[in-house]
Amino acid sequence: LLTGLTADSALLNQYRGGRNSAGEITRPHRRPVWFMRQAGRSLPEYRALREGTTMLDSCLDPALASEITLQPVRRHDVDAAIFFSDIVIPLRLAGIDVEIQPGVGPVLGHPVRTRADVEALPTLDDAAFAPITEAVRRTVAELGSTPLIGFAGAPFTLAAYMVEGKPSRDHLGPRTMMHADPDTWNALAAWAAEVSGRFMRAQLMAGASAAQLFDSWAGSLGREDYARHVLRHSAEAFTHVKDLGGTTPEGHRVTAPLIHFGTGTGEILDLLRAAGADVVGVDYRLNLAEATRRVGAETPLQGNIDPALLPADWPVLEKHVRSIIAAGSGAAGHVLNLGHGVPPETDPEVLTRVVSLIHEIGYED
Ligand code: CP3
Repeated sequence: LLTGLTADSALLNQYRGGRNSAGEITRPHRRPVWFMRQAGRSLPEYRALREGTTMLDSCLDPALASEITLQPVRRHDVDAAIFFSDIVIPLRLAGIDVEIQPGVGPVLGHPVRTRADVEALPTLDDAAFAPITEAVRRTVAELGSTPLIGFAGAPFTLAAYMVEGKPSRDHLGPRTMMHADPDTWNALAAWAAEVSGRFMRAQLMAGASAAQLFDSWAGSLGREDYARHVLRHSAEAFTHVKDLGGTTPEGHRVTAPLIHFGTGTGEILDLLRAAGADVVGVDYRLNLAEATRRVGAETPLQGNIDPALLPADWPVLEKHVRSIIAAGSGAAGHVLNLGHGVPPETDPEVLTRVVSLIHEIGYED
């Protein structure tokens, strides 16, 4: 337990600002990269395995979830696995009626809109995490020295699905609630923060090496709304994974690098960091040099290859990848990723080629 956190890898080195687990500055042997949604419909081997099993049932089958997590690592030689699960899994584990409808996204049987709805939310029993911890243990055992990244949905993004009951573009429901009925909003966001934090903690305690909080829809919030109604709940989710209870042989407290990502979050990037993250994930809209100006050079960054360029001719894509590396060079650490998830229609061979380009570039330039 917790061995994932004391491991050294090029990826963890960059998340720690270019330092190894003992805190010494080191140069990794290769430039690290992984892709959000690397496990999924872009892979034919994923589509074959998923045949006949619903999305959430696949997440709750430890053998299946573990195998799906490993597929992109084998195929692309990426520097991390991202645990195959979903942000709504803790809701399902708490007994909430939620499905993922193919091509749509999360849909709830009973949206949560009133104070009474929030008061009726179930409590989540720790024992419910068993299929998750089992899948993480199996995956970490297979991965060897490649780190596993755990994740959770942030309170705002989770609450957005809970209030709307389905995906929405503008997230009017939760944005109305935080102003019109702040007590109900705070009670709902606090519930979401707790399940989110405990979901991340369960993955880290079972062997994941880092965790990413996805506030995918935080970009729909103005800066003031984020600061006043959302930030403290995301900070609360992070408090569950700040102290994991272990110490290194040198007597240091064992901590996991914590990554915070959302789309359209250029105006609140410093607040994503302030919520308690070590690393900020940047979407494709913001140049990484500008991101460094906004969050400070000591903050490692993750991102931000534009998924729209994946189908472009190779020279166009190669130039783009090189420009992202150059723009990220002012940050204490930089882990290459996309600026949002892999689109399902992506040619997987392009992703493999992007990984080998990034590894080839190394740290020579
Ligand atoms: O490689 C990985 O990143 C795998 C793990 C992963 C999934 N969902 C699997 C998944 C992760 C990290 C997520 C997070 C997630 N889930 C987010 C945050 C990331 C983001 O994209 O901003 C959100 C908003 C969700 C909710 C959700 N789940 C949506 C919007 C969808 C897409 C619906 C669709 O079919 O277009 C899902 C389903 C989902 N989650 C799929 C996968 C691989 C697709 C399911 C399929 O194969 O049909």
